[in-house]
Amino acid sequence: MKITNILITGKIYKELEEIMEREGYEELRGKQLRFRAEGEVTEDDLEWSEAFVSFRPTPNFYFGKNLKWVHSLGAGVDRYMSLGIWKQGIPLTRTVCSFGERISEYSLSYVLRDLQFHETFAQHQAVKQWNEFTPIPLKEIRLIVFGTGEIGHEVARAFSSFGVKVYGVSLSGKQKSHFEKVIGRENLSRDFLQGADYIINTLPLTSYTDKLFGEEFFNELKNAVFINCGRGASVDHSALRKALDNGNLKSAVLDVFEVEPLPTTDPLWDNPKVTITPHISAVTTPEEAVACFVDTLSNIEGNRELENEVDLTKEF
Ligand code: GLV
Repeated sequence: MKITNILITGKIYKELEEIMEREGYEELRGKQLRFRAEGEVTEDDLEWSEAFVSFRPTPNFYFGKNLKWVHSLGAGVDRYMSLGIWKQGIPLTRTVCSFGERISEYSLSYVLRDLQFHETFAQHQAVKQWNEFTPIPLKEIRLIVFGTGEIGHEVARAFSSFGVKVYGVSLSGKQKSHFEKVIGRENLSRDFLQGADYIINTLPLTSYTDKLFGEEFFNELKNAVFINCGRGASVDHSALRKALDNGNLKSAVLDVFEVEPLPTTDPLWDNPKVTITPHISAVTTPEEAVACFVDTLSNIEGNRELENEVDLTKEF
């Protein structure tokens, strides 16, 4: 496939323009590039472009007559999927880059915060108290990772390298390296969930994962820690608060929310058992965005297999 006209939009379009100009990529020679703020994308831009590059469709997005390829600057493609109908034959690719590593490090930092009693020791230091608590080794915990794709698999690799027993939940239940065991989503059982000390969600938002983590799910847990790096809409907040109150959950670390920024009126802000971070567990840096885009462009034009192509027929 040959691509000449490329429309680049989204919140980092200026940075992408600077990097592309500065680096003078061979792959971009002879290409026509339009860089636009989201609100400035016109119908003419949409009709003109053969490639549409952005975190999400612009509010006026439609499949223009020349469009051949859509590339997401983020890993999550829910906003593209929620367009409803996808035009046949147009590949949708995404940017995953270092997301697996970033989400692993984010999660590991909060797991270690608990196991090494960081907060307890900080409180004791404030009152000059010498209280011994023995840190809990990582290899003693049982972790369940929801999603065994590129990101979930990297999380399993990172944690298992410290001896953590990592269990996975996926659509297919296909076994993968670094997981003790992967189960299909329909085989989730009370026994499986009750043994979990930590749960990390890396799943995309689909009709199946919408409010997947609700009352029924939390009721099966016993004093577990829930870390959400997937999408906020996968969690029912009132069920989460209840689970924190009744001990099904010990604590929650939330990086993603259905409404972002999380409204200041949301009771989660004041809940001492909740840690809130502003959707930073996996950020696409402009450098990584450009590298992934240029690489994908070269694969598209070389008719090579696209490892980062989204399977539009698959949900979770
Ligand atoms: C981040 O959440 C992304 O989807 O890129």
